[in-house]
Amino acid sequence: MSGLIPSRFIDDLLSRIDILDVVEPRVKLRKTGKNYSGLCPFHQEKSPSFTVQPEKQFYYCFGCGAGGNALGFVMNFESLDFVDAVEMLAKSIGLDVPREDSGQNKQTDMRHAALLRLLDDISSFYQLQLRQHPQRQRAVGYLKKRGLSGEIARDFGLGYAPQGWDNVLKAFGSDKEKQKLLLEAGMLIENPDNQRNSLYDRFRDRIMYPIRDSRGRVIGFGGRVLGDDKPKYLNSPETPVFRKGEELYGLYEARKKLRNPERFLVVEGYMDVIALAQNGIHYSVATLGTATSASHLRVLFKLVPEVVFCFDGDNAGREAAWRAVQQTLPLMEDGRSARFLFLPEGQDPDTQVRSIGAAAFEASLGKATGLADFFFDTLSARTDLSSLEGKAQLSKLAQPLLEKLPKGIYRQLMFDQLGQLTGVRVGSPSPAAPQATPPESPQPAAERQSFGRPPIRSSRPRVEWSPCMRMVHLLIRKPDIIAAVPIPDDLGEIRSDDMDLLLKVIEIAQAWPDSNTGELMSRIYATSYGSQLTELFGKELITPTAGMLEEFKDILQRLLAQYHARKARHSMMEQLRQLHPQAEPGAPGQPSDTQVVK
Ligand code: UTP
Ligand code: MN
Repeated sequence: MSGLIPSRFIDDLLSRIDILDVVEPRVKLRKTGKNYSGLCPFHQEKSPSFTVQPEKQFYYCFGCGAGGNALGFVMNFESLDFVDAVEMLAKSIGLDVPREDSGQNKQTDMRHAALLRLLDDISSFYQLQLRQHPQRQRAVGYLKKRGLSGEIARDFGLGYAPQGWDNVLKAFGSDKEKQKLLLEAGMLIENPDNQRNSLYDRFRDRIMYPIRDSRGRVIGFGGRVLGDDKPKYLNSPETPVFRKGEELYGLYEARKKLRNPERFLVVEGYMDVIALAQNGIHYSVATLGTATSASHLRVLFKLVPEVVFCFDGDNAGREAAWRAVQQTLPLMEDGRSARFLFLPEGQDPDTQVRSIGAAAFEASLGKATGLADFFFDTLSARTDLSSLEGKAQLSKLAQPLLEKLPKGIYRQLMFDQLGQLTGVRVGSPSPAAPQATPPESPQPAAERQSFGRPPIRSSRPRVEWSPCMRMVHLLIRKPDIIAAVPIPDDLGEIRSDDMDLLLKVIEIAQAWPDSNTGELMSRIYATSYGSQLTELFGKELITPTAGMLEEFKDILQRLLAQYHARKARHSMMEQLRQLHPQAEPGAPGQPSDTQVVK
């Protein structure tokens, strides 16, 4: 197809694509803190100096200096020109690339620029009215009554659209051309019945909330009545620069305030975002009267590992939460977390934070229902788990939804959980995991691999697991093991595969003894051990929780027993050598398992 690709489309494409999704299939990466590193694909090297920074959506090689965004990476890696690279990226997320002839393209860009300038000017105009209009006291009084400070009003650019039919029309629509632009920006309404005064202001006598895109450009407005009139809120219509399904109110303001937020809170209303900010909680965003979309969530998960959804505790709130679950599942990569906070009926985050205070509100976020619990609680409530039919029904409802999860430990755990609820092992735990058919009885090979004896009450062979890795797995699955089992200090002296990882996980579990599986995992993911987890858990197979504590203790005892036996042997050899210096029983100083000393 000929014609230029509109620059807006490129912006859009880059905002939807995660550079990690682009690089990872092409370069083997390891997680190193927040970033990823690997061997540079653009020059020959033996140690990794190529890094990907998801936070900045950027790659860079310290070795050869290659660097750029997702698009640049594809161009370089696949040796494609710009247009082909755009086509390739767009295709990977199911988008068609729009084309315009160059004249039209330029015109469109200019039109957009004119609209954005106009909206920005109107926003300043509304802010000025809040400071200077003769009737400003009503608006100011309203904001004060809602507990907002001048500072917050400024941060969010709040303004006032005065009473009257033509304030904006007069100030910005001095000729036909300008009126056309105002109409296109959604600021005027046209009344076709009335020939003479057919144009009038959309927003009249309202508090004005400018809606800004991620770069801070005003793209539309919400306007609230001062009293109880209906409709309570009027919003700009969809325009060439304002697409509601993709914008999040408050995102720009949040990012301006916080460098590295740990999570985002998704709320329903403009006032919720503002009231939370007024109370020092700067990490909330609102969808603009629409349901949370996958595109909203992709934007948020690019910035933070945790999203907390805030809903009314009533039925409508729970239904909205369930819709959010379905959008969230495909994005639940390991290390990400989603929670659901259900407020008491009739409360919204604005009223709630004002009634219980910011500290209590933030504490309630930490205790919000995790995605897994909400998922299984919701589906369990729809079925009767005391009957076989009910269990089958649950399995049938849950499975297609769980299939949406990306591969990883979280996916495994969710399938595990379903298996436990129904008593039936379900589906493929991971599309990429090696699939072993469960044998009816333990096989000799399984015994060897699972460290000495068959796993308790599990007939599945385990694949390539070290004892430490097995313990890591058990600890993550059942974090309360840590409180039940004393860990001897000399565990750290044992040199064994994955011991460092095990010690780290023990350290984290001990430091946060109340963590659940998800919390423990995200804490581990915050360290450099995260990638090791993903790698090794890719091989995970389902195990029932019963017997986990015993198995953990058992492996620990065996590891220590072996170690102590080895140490005893070693010191015996030392003594022997001192007694008979000429006899060299083994490699000096090396404890050896193959050496039999009886
Ligand atoms: P709410 O009524 O919960 O909004 O509607 P709010 O922010 O809590 O309102 P107040 O000021 O405290 O009373 C949630 C969101 O739904 C959209 C708006 O985006 C609003 O923020 N909405 C609501 C409308 O677009 N129009 C309406 O008439 C009402
Ligand atoms: Mn409200």
